[in-house]
Amino acid sequence: MRPNSPAPSRRQALGLGLAAGALSGFPAFAATGPSLASLARDKGLQFGSAVGAGPVGALTGSFEDRRYRQILAEECGLLVPENELKWYVVRAAGPASFAFERADRIAAFAKANGQALRGHTLLWHHPQWFPAWIKTHDFGAQPKLAAAALLTEHITTLCQRYPQMISWDVVNETVDPADGSVRNTVLSDILGREPTLDLAFHTARAAAPKARLVYNDYMSWEVGNEKHRYGVLKLLEGFRKRGTPVDALGVQAHIGAENADSFTGFGKPQEQEWRAFLDEATGMGYDLLVTEFDVHDKGLVYDFAPRDAAVAAYAKGYFDLMLSYRQTKEVLAWGMVDKYSWLQGQWPRQDGKAKRPTLYDDNYQPKPLREAVAAALKAAPAR
Ligand code: XIL
Repeated sequence: MRPNSPAPSRRQALGLGLAAGALSGFPAFAATGPSLASLARDKGLQFGSAVGAGPVGALTGSFEDRRYRQILAEECGLLVPENELKWYVVRAAGPASFAFERADRIAAFAKANGQALRGHTLLWHHPQWFPAWIKTHDFGAQPKLAAAALLTEHITTLCQRYPQMISWDVVNETVDPADGSVRNTVLSDILGREPTLDLAFHTARAAAPKARLVYNDYMSWEVGNEKHRYGVLKLLEGFRKRGTPVDALGVQAHIGAENADSFTGFGKPQEQEWRAFLDEATGMGYDLLVTEFDVHDKGLVYDFAPRDAAVAAYAKGYFDLMLSYRQTKEVLAWGMVDKYSWLQGQWPRQDGKAKRPTLYDDNYQPKPLREAVAAALKAAPAR
């Protein structure tokens, strides 16, 4: 336990048997000095991570691992459920029911540890990410009314159940990177594309008046993201023109190898273009969030030392840039321990070996990437 961690929440957590620490018999972490949460707090930022309450031992089940929970308790001031608030989990059983058990467990842990919570995501507006039943759902004789009711009920129910959310990814990934257009879904086929997105934000504002409302997407600084960035700016501009209540742009920050990249290493950053993009977004009055940070090391050498060093250096440059914007208010890693990273299940390395995309290794030890994030937070201007 670091000396600067809040004692009461720590005691509460241990009392609930939710966090592990010295009492659990695990050694203290090798990370020395202040936690990432406190380094962030010193600069007026929040630092945290995603955590998944999927099955024990699964890639999505980090929350079931006591040592993972210990890292969350030590390092994070903010948590986000990785999948537990998505339609395909919450509404898996059909239009008449909501399944909150998994998200509730994460929310209880955050509360016991004095951590803030953010919500992901009220509308992953992409046809792939809805529950299967919606494709054949009968919207009846007045489909516009029924579709609007389904969406507003969903958003209102989630917002009201978790009034503690400091921010919500209201709409996720609706810009098609191929041409910058807004994607079509079952809902937008009935309601229209922009009206669907606007309805989501207006509903969230009414049901979660204190939360920061976010448009979240994975446009990034690597070559090949040009059309994606352009489409996102167009979308953000449209929100402003129509008076849609959107407070921030969530920059997912899955940096490193392009998802469909060759095996030659990191995607080449376009720093100037990226700054221009962030300038445009902040110029429209949007705050920035780093919502899903990890470094895809698909194309790097196998050896740990050079691989970890390259990952850390790439991330340091990225964070120095992102944190130079005082509009950047929250920073979240998409997982804290390599073996639970979603990237292990996607886009395999050529050598078939495990990836090292997160701040802690599979022995729960901090890596150079953790120090890079700490160094960037220390160097960041206060906001
Ligand atoms: C990923 C999760 O990490 C996986 O467990 C799940 O199978 C698919 O979704 N962008 C997002 C996140 O907005 O919700 C995604 O999370 C990663 C990419």
